[in-house]
Amino acid sequence: MEDQEKEAIRQRTDIVELVSAYTPLKKTGNRWKGCCPFHSEKTPSFTVDPERGRWHCFGACSTGGDIFTFLERAENLSFMEAAERLAAKAGITLSRKGATPAEREAADRSRTERDRVFNANALAARFFQTVLRKAPLAFEYAYQKRKLSSQTLDDFAVGYAPDEWEALSRYLHGQGVFLEDAERAGLLTRRGDGSAYDRFRARLIFPIVDVQERVVAFGGRILVPAENAPKYLNSPETPVFSKSKTLYALNRARKTIAEKDQAVIVEGYMDVVACHQAGFTNVIATLGTSLTDEHVRLLGRYTKNVVLSFDADDAGIRAALRSAELFTAAGANAFSLKVLNLPSGEDPDSLVTAGNTGAFQRAIDEAMSVSEFHLQAILKRHDTQNPAGREQYMREALGIIAEVRGAMEQDRLIQKIARYHPSWERGSVHVEESLRAELRRLRFGGAAQADAQQPERGGYTPRPQNQSGGNSGGYPARQNTQGRGGGFAQTFRQWNAPPPEPPPTIAPEATADAKAERTVLLALFHPEWTQIVQNRVRPAFFGDARATALVERALPALLAGHSPASAVNGATESSAELATFADKLLLSDADEPLNLQAIEDCLLFLAERQGKRQARNLSQQIEESSFAQKQNKDISTEAGKTPAADEERLRQWQQTMETLKRARTGGADGKPG
Ligand code: GTP
Ligand code: MN
Repeated sequence: MEDQEKEAIRQRTDIVELVSAYTPLKKTGNRWKGCCPFHSEKTPSFTVDPERGRWHCFGACSTGGDIFTFLERAENLSFMEAAERLAAKAGITLSRKGATPAEREAADRSRTERDRVFNANALAARFFQTVLRKAPLAFEYAYQKRKLSSQTLDDFAVGYAPDEWEALSRYLHGQGVFLEDAERAGLLTRRGDGSAYDRFRARLIFPIVDVQERVVAFGGRILVPAENAPKYLNSPETPVFSKSKTLYALNRARKTIAEKDQAVIVEGYMDVVACHQAGFTNVIATLGTSLTDEHVRLLGRYTKNVVLSFDADDAGIRAALRSAELFTAAGANAFSLKVLNLPSGEDPDSLVTAGNTGAFQRAIDEAMSVSEFHLQAILKRHDTQNPAGREQYMREALGIIAEVRGAMEQDRLIQKIARYHPSWERGSVHVEESLRAELRRLRFGGAAQADAQQPERGGYTPRPQNQSGGNSGGYPARQNTQGRGGGFAQTFRQWNAPPPEPPPTIAPEATADAKAERTVLLALFHPEWTQIVQNRVRPAFFGDARATALVERALPALLAGHSPASAVNGATESSAELATFADKLLLSDADEPLNLQAIEDCLLFLAERQGKRQARNLSQQIEESSFAQKQNKDISTEAGKTPAADEERLRQWQQTMETLKRARTGGADGKPG
């Protein structure tokens, strides 16, 4: 893509408007602030500078960029995809001159290929929908048996694929869809001889629609169970569909998810549709797969509070633990993850369709933490009727609790398991105390360390290398206390440590030197103060190489009368590192407001420091050379060590000292030699 086009898109895109679609922004001064759309936070640390077209998160993300990187990140796009969207919005047609002809052609082809697949899907969805209304048995199944209202069937565009081999193929052909495109869309399958037949036959069809309201795929439920036909059949992966990135019904649910600030993830299409029909419109589903980090990222745009529905069997526990890991990995405790505890033998569909919406609502309200779900699930594996079974359960349960972060959450869980303790009868307080002691021993290898410094977050942190989840039935935490000294305790603390903050470049709270550098830089790039600083600042004033580079590059533009914003943009254009450095500096609001006195003081301070350095260097050189002269008169003729060179240095030194003196006595022009 051409720089010119990039620039045109930039100029026609309002970065505040762009970002506002993802997170509300408030104007403060020349900038806009809000909560970061990429991680969960309560105090807004996300800053947008419309003048420079830059954004920066000063919170956990600690990253930033321009409109392109913002959309890439927010929508999970490549640069070209983001550019295309922004261009389309700005009414700019990209020439794609940057690409080679072959690349351009490939891009065109894949673009129209995707369009053709979307088109085939849209036509197929319409076809299935029409067929449902004309197929009494299928309609009866949906309407009578599954209790889906006519409105719900319409809302979800539920359809029916007839029990024929080529019904859809014929229809699509009649609509002018190429066979290849229907095949790419996963609607047809080829036989060995090259002939094609419909993938979906005799199934109730649930179109899968993305958040841009395009039909990307289909799920089909068999009407009449058959020997070797799966109950549910999905579209394969296609140019427009990837299971691991798609959440069923997110298009319909996302508004409520954002409003309620909570998403409920269930397992099946029927569950979603039935829940929505019953008024639970923040319900979505994965497509017969377990949750992926891409799902988490997608969902994270709308909420960080997720309730997951799992069966309490081994597979369910594994899935829950895996999900917990995923969510934890998605950002240290950014997400709150809970697990639905449904009455056994029920799924959300069966509950709400039987009219038991109260029970479902209660299950959501009382959803358990993953660790609690884990504890409850393993309970089923032990015979708690006899003392040996109870003891086994206690051991396993304590191992699980030892992995939980947050003393409060641990305490809560201890209270839950205490009643299975062999000496429960002797009093709960006694039992809980001894369980706590056991836990400390487990966690810290005997040294009963207070864990008051652990953050009280109550989250569940699975092991980094999952030690066979909770299915070992063993006593994983105990192994860690044996023969490895503080190993476990150490690992434990490592996980629980807050994510490492990148070291601040020139931190506001740093030393006087750094503070002065920061103030002068800020003033140099502040429209109100830049004039005062421009003529007196020197690149060499700064200890940080990036600051030096920034000033070096921006000064000519500033002196030529360009605005600070355009000078900075010009200076950082070719260096992402410099751009980030500038963003961090200029978008931060950790500083006190600038004032003339402070700027003058800092300029003087830096000029003096610079002068002193120079003077020190000079006198050192003079000393060295006179020392050399004394040592060996013969080399005194050597270049650079002549008395004449010394005199020149001395002159420079005196000049520097003069300048400093003048500056100190209030002379405005404090520039050092
Ligand atoms: P109903 O029996 O219609 O109520 O469906 P359900 O939603 O209760 O189905 P179940 O719990 O059996 O499955 C939940 C989800 O797992 C489904 O919505 C599908 O996404 C997926 N699934 C179930 N069975 C199959 C199958 O045979 N093949 C595939 N690919 N996915 C399946
Ligand atoms: Mn079901």
